[in-house]
Amino acid sequence: MVTNIRFCTIMFSFFVLLAILPSSSCSIPRKLALVKPIPIVLKNHKGELLKGNVTVNILWYGNFTPSQRAIVVDFLKSLSPKGRGSPPPPSVASWWSTTQKYLGSPSTITVGKQILLNYPLGKSLNDSHIEALTSKFSQVNTVNVLLTASDVAVEDFCMSRCGTHGWTRGKRGKKYAYAWVGNPANQCPGECAWPFHQPIVGPQTPPLVAPNGDVGIDGSVISLATVLAGTVTNPFDNGYFQGPKIAPLEAVTACTGIFGSGAFPGYPGTVLVDKTSGASYNARGLNGREYLLPAMWDPKTSLCKPLV
Ligand SMILES: *[C@@H]1O[C@H](CO)[C@@H](O)[C@H](O)[C@H]1NC(C)=O
Ligand SMILES: *[C@@H]1O[C@H](CO)[C@@H](O)[C@H](O)[C@H]1NC(C)=O
Repeated sequence: MVTNIRFCTIMFSFFVLLAILPSSSCSIPRKLALVKPIPIVLKNHKGELLKGNVTVNILWYGNFTPSQRAIVVDFLKSLSPKGRGSPPPPSVASWWSTTQKYLGSPSTITVGKQILLNYPLGKSLNDSHIEALTSKFSQVNTVNVLLTASDVAVEDFCMSRCGTHGWTRGKRGKKYAYAWVGNPANQCPGECAWPFHQPIVGPQTPPLVAPNGDVGIDGSVISLATVLAGTVTNPFDNGYFQGPKIAPLEAVTACTGIFGSGAFPGYPGTVLVDKTSGASYNARGLNGREYLLPAMWDPKTSLCKPLV
């Protein structure tokens, strides 16, 4: 296996933004919203994208309850729902449909294999481990997604990233995409499960109620949505991104921290609230699910477009 060394990561760019603001002034985030944002343009580097039928295999590394797995699987199945029972917008499918504007034709996601792994490489993983685990079931137009349980430490998890996507080259030179997302429940909910948990730095807006009642897994869904959108629009480092290859802004990382209209650093924006559960969401999914999904950059308007 020849491998690349670069990983697209979900950086805490919005925390970085907070860090450079003078901490003495509470009004600054609001003022920021009045300043015309610098338009973001993700350059199309014209490389191969993941279109057509794309299979997502899930590798569950460590302990996940059946209800936790169902939250994630229902999210993935809601991206490209087949036939009846598809919820009306704003939905997971309407969120995913923005990727079609990059691809020119849809990327239709199907959930493939699910593999349960009982800590075969222990509880402390690095990038080599992620690659070794995800390269086992490589196939063309397949994304192997590794999800690590809340008791698994992963290199740079919670330091600079909540998840990542990358690619490897197989024996015959074919390229395979993969992704990893960690459950931040015990390690850094304030970073990787924001806005369902108080942020560790910056303005302390009250946390939102997680739509599926699981702060860690609902946070993982945000990261999974982010890395999947990055994977199909920039699978092999030569698709849509802005900035250096090693730390690019991609479809969703270009819009970090935005979930609804009126968002500003530290405030996720106005989203929908479920009258029964009090949970915050902006996307309906299959099986009556609700999810909170990050804004995606729209190549037609060059704007970060939240669902609500
Ligand atoms: C995707 O799969 C469906 C059936 O599962 C098939 O009808 C369709 O032609 C496939 N699309 C592409 C682009 O291969
Ligand atoms: C990951 O850890 C293994 C030992 O567990 C080590 O051999 C390998 O070089 C490490 N890889 C990276 C990228 O740090």
